[in-house]
Amino acid sequence: MSKIKNDLILKVLRGEKTHRAPVWMMRQAGRYLPQYMDLKNKYSFFERCETPELAATITLQPVDILQVDAAILFSDILVVPKAMGLEVQIIENKGPLLPAPIKSVEDLKRITLPDVEDKLHFVMEAIQLCKQQLDGSVPLIGFAGAPWTILCYMVQGKGSKTFDEAKAFCYTNPSLAHHLLQMIADTTIRYLKAQASAGADVLQVFDSWAGLLCKEDFDTFSYPYLLQITQALKDTVPVIIFAKGAWQSLETLAGSGASALGIDWCITPETARSMAGEKIVLQGNLDPVKLLSPIPEIIKETTKMLASFGAQKHIANLGHGILPNVPVDHARAFIDTVKNNIYPSF
Ligand code: CP3
Repeated sequence: MSKIKNDLILKVLRGEKTHRAPVWMMRQAGRYLPQYMDLKNKYSFFERCETPELAATITLQPVDILQVDAAILFSDILVVPKAMGLEVQIIENKGPLLPAPIKSVEDLKRITLPDVEDKLHFVMEAIQLCKQQLDGSVPLIGFAGAPWTILCYMVQGKGSKTFDEAKAFCYTNPSLAHHLLQMIADTTIRYLKAQASAGADVLQVFDSWAGLLCKEDFDTFSYPYLLQITQALKDTVPVIIFAKGAWQSLETLAGSGASALGIDWCITPETARSMAGEKIVLQGNLDPVKLLSPIPEIIKETTKMLASFGAQKHIANLGHGILPNVPVDHARAFIDTVKNNIYPSF
């Protein structure tokens, strides 16, 4: 029995019926909120991540302001490479920078399998604080990056449209790539287990760059590690896998043991459902740029999206993170439209 008052998302993830789709937004704790900008102007990115009180305050902002059905911990996927020993910076208007990326077998000696309870203690403390402050109102989602996506940053050293250096690293030295992927997977498993023990109710794995791989390469460099993660976590809390752009692998992912699969806006809910089968929950998939349309258009598009998913087995979300230039009213129109759409049989 859950002690959480609004446990819609947990019910859906357990396969139970609900009166409507639960809703939250990827990157809901972020720069479109003026309350976030106040803290962003006072503290550096990693100060915000590594100070549990700040991380908890930022996590709760969208819950208070927009009444979403779940909180997602404010942190970043790049705390993992940082804990493994690589320097990580977030540069304003540019994104992540890892000044000394992994390029060779020599470079691998610079990273370790960290004791996550020690190195990422601030995350577990932030989770505990969030749980206290949420006081059973809505569930808390913890997260980590997928090994493939983390490798992209560890090898490329920065964001990229193609992650060509990361892919070339895998193609040139697959055994080294698998060694690195395994180290990331081992760290991630420990990290996600620690998040669940600290109180995370759901865990999402972000494979943001899965769509850069052809099906065969996804099956080689991403899926085996995602599978290790879902298998290791199956007796803890439900796992959502968001493998952006990897729609050709939805059928494979549906067999991973994950409770839900995130989809982006480039695949229709109907196609995603036919590929993933009837059993699994789907999450998504409004194009985040649609939140820049006029509000009546947002309501129309969100309603259309909900109809395409149909009743049950759906967690409403955007198809990727909310953009910083979205007006708060527009985000609210999305959330409220989902909340107002009660399934016909209720
Ligand atoms: O979803 C949430 O509200 C929780 C917070 C969260 C952040 N990053 C905060 C953040 C989550 C879930 C992430 C995940 C993340 N980080 C991903 C996977 C999700 C995705 O969007 O694909 C990736 C690829 C990263 C790596 C990363 N961190 C990038 C590419 C950037 C720069 C992005 C940008 O828009 O500038 C970051 C920094 C970052 N992480 C910001 C936030 C709110 C923006 C910087 C800031 O606010 O100071």
